[in-house]
Amino acid sequence: MILRASFGFLCFVLVSCNFVYGKLAPDYIHPCNATTSACLIKATQDAIPEFVKGIPNLGVPSLDPFVIEKLAIPLNGLKVTFYKGKVSGFRKCIVDNVISELEKRHFVLEFHCNLTIKGQYDAVGRILLFPINGEGDAKVKLTNLRMKLDINTKYVKDKQGIDYFSIKNYKYSFDYGDHVYFDLQNLFKESKQLSETVLNFLNDNWKTVAEEFGKPIVDYAVDLAIRTVEKFFDKVPYDELIYVPLPV
Ligand SMILES: *[C@@H]1O[C@H](CO)[C@@H](O)[C@H](O)[C@H]1NC(C)=O
Ligand SMILES: *[C@@H]1O[C@H](CO)[C@@H](O)[C@H](O)[C@H]1NC(C)=O
Repeated sequence: MILRASFGFLCFVLVSCNFVYGKLAPDYIHPCNATTSACLIKATQDAIPEFVKGIPNLGVPSLDPFVIEKLAIPLNGLKVTFYKGKVSGFRKCIVDNVISELEKRHFVLEFHCNLTIKGQYDAVGRILLFPINGEGDAKVKLTNLRMKLDINTKYVKDKQGIDYFSIKNYKYSFDYGDHVYFDLQNLFKESKQLSETVLNFLNDNWKTVAEEFGKPIVDYAVDLAIRTVEKFFDKVPYDELIYVPLPV
């Protein structure tokens, strides 16, 4: 009886100790001692390949690949639905710049990546001049997509008085980079020949096409990435992410 009680007590102490003193941030988070861009770029680059795998015990989902169950892309005169999609490539993103202004509660991240989006689509309507009625496999490859995220942050305290980063709002800009390659099977259910002709046309005009129907997918991806980072910030305290005192 006494043994069991002591054992229970020991467990309780160990669990609480771990809870109170245990570090939540994974080992691939290398906190900077100062907000120099050089350190922040390196720390971000170090973290990306592992972070994008997700952190199940913190409820942070995977970003590489990430899943797009279903996404309707509203366009003038064309109804496209993309579904059973998988986006991969984020693990190899290259970080170009990171700016963290702790006092101004401002954070900027610039990076470029090659991404592959695979899934199924259906499309009915018109694209450029062509009447489309198709469905099938879809693959889109982006080469050197460049993105700049501009985030306003804030600091929040939990009930124990522990400080956390939080995202107040964000905006972003991007360009489609060097090339976007489309592989959309069966653009016309009736004609394989016409499907190929139009697909070639879309690829010859990749920039216009990407600009016309890429934005909803990019918006979706950025929003998901931001919400993923938010989940991480909700769990991992400020002082495990950067070794610079919280500004007052
Ligand atoms: C921060 O400083 C500590 C102690 O001097 C050092 O061990 C660590 O490597 C530094 N971190 C970075 C990212 O430079
Ligand atoms: C993307 O792919 C191109 C061509 O294959 C390559 O030159 C470039 O370095 C890649 N970029 C990244 C960020 O991996």
